[in-house]
Amino acid sequence: MHINPLERKWVYVSLGMVGLFVASIVLTAITEGVHPPSNVETVDSASLHLGDEFAEDKLGVRQQPDGSLRVTLVAARYGFYPNHIEIPADTPVTFRMASVDVLHAAHIPMTNMSTMVVPGYVSQITTTFPKPGDYPMLCNEYCGLGHDHMWSKVTVVAKEEWHGVAAAEQQGSKP
Ligand code: CUA
Repeated sequence: MHINPLERKWVYVSLGMVGLFVASIVLTAITEGVHPPSNVETVDSASLHLGDEFAEDKLGVRQQPDGSLRVTLVAARYGFYPNHIEIPADTPVTFRMASVDVLHAAHIPMTNMSTMVVPGYVSQITTTFPKPGDYPMLCNEYCGLGHDHMWSKVTVVAKEEWHGVAAAEQQGSKP
């Protein structure tokens, strides 16, 4: 079978590009922790407010028994609740998010925090913020007329300046 040399050359070029993309995906997944969230966990979006984890008074930053931090957020048209969270830098933080209505996504620019929030599923992502500062958390899936206004604020403070998840709350949980 005859293949035109020029055509053969372009086949190699396109295969080379595919190889390059696959290599960059694998490399960033290993070195930068950039990968799709694989936490397949279902939740009933219609009764989030009645549930254990996503009820209004359970949202926000919580310290787990092992000392790690967990941020529980609800995405709804048009905002993330709670609307402002404060977390320490250089500390692993696990976000758990659920949508009460339609498809949303949470994205914090200049960090590797970005995930879709699919109704019916819990989105979970663990990340660390090295740089203190104020970050916006934006919705980056079109979810309706107010999509452009769907954002909240994440304040990352230096580890030493972070006063904890309301010191009172931890004291309250002590026996
Ligand atoms: Cu929520 Cu776009």
